Amino acid sequence: MNKKRVLSGMRPTGRLHLGHYFGALKNWITIQEQYDCFYMVADWHALTSDYADTSALKDNSFDMVADWLTVGIDPAKSVIFKQSDVAEHAEFFLILSMITPLGWLFRCPTYKEQIAEVKSKDLHNFGFLGYPVLQAADILIYKAQAVPVGEDQLAHLELTREIARRFNNFYGDVLPEPQALLTKTARVPGLDKRKMSKSYGNSILIAETNDDVAKKVKTMYTDPLRIKATDAGHPEGCVVFAFHEIFNKDCAKRKEQCTQGTIGCVACKKELTELICSFTGPMMKKREEILNDRKLIENTLKEGAKKARETASATLKEIKKAIKI
Ligand code: TRP
Repeated sequence: MNKKRVLSGMRPTGRLHLGHYFGALKNWITIQEQYDCFYMVADWHALTSDYADTSALKDNSFDMVADWLTVGIDPAKSVIFKQSDVAEHAEFFLILSMITPLGWLFRCPTYKEQIAEVKSKDLHNFGFLGYPVLQAADILIYKAQAVPVGEDQLAHLELTREIARRFNNFYGDVLPEPQALLTKTARVPGLDKRKMSKSYGNSILIAETNDDVAKKVKTMYTDPLRIKATDAGHPEGCVVFAFHEIFNKDCAKRKEQCTQGTIGCVACKKELTELICSFTGPMMKKREEILNDRKLIENTLKEGAKKARETASATLKEIKKAIKI
């Protein structure tokens, strides 16, 4: 039986944190077994908004792939590649740009939101507006049937489906419409309760040293109404408890202890530190092993690009035939 194909991508932002792991990667690892997976380092996507300073782009891609391999994205099972190594995406993007109405792009909720909110960089560039068209090209060039995406990317996937439909209307049935692969993921708060994000400086890395985990857990926001350890605590809305829900099998008991005031925040944090370290510690070790062999990552991307190009160029041939160019 032929496995369904999946494509997903991530912008290279450097070393990944627990939010990336529980929000996406954990699922990526699982679905490697049932699907034919293509996982892409979306470096051109990074350029659409971070075009002014590209000095960290290469290192960020390298660090991200190191983390992918660390957590168990397996080059023997999945195709791991860098977008800019497969120029076919760019050619297809150009073709799709001809048939994508501007209104679809200006109406995109992520576009409107970022234009309104992001003040640190100028996003009034052509590439940023066209970003969802590039994403559509990424997906459709592999004829991916399923795309694991977070809620924030759903609008982009819908646009991809609309672009595929429009293409097929003009030129014949070439592109399958991809489905969203929505799975339950844990929302990981940052140390300060906002969303965990590199730019907020509130994250715990997947491969973090035990010392750094301990330091970070100490800074976690706790219940300000709780002055003495015996005061009743409020686990809901407590960052420390949110992490217990992810890492502690017995978090129901912890909830009880906290509410009844039989455990204090210091002890609760200490235990959490140990729980997180039992995850991050082995990741740290694995990452070091992977980095010992620098060629491993280079070869993974080289092999991945080769395989990705095979599929992408075959689709591009069909596409060109369909549009008679
Ligand atoms: N836009 C995605 C993000 O910023 C990354 C991405 C690029 C992607 N191309 C994709 C995700 C194709 C899924 C499918 O996270």
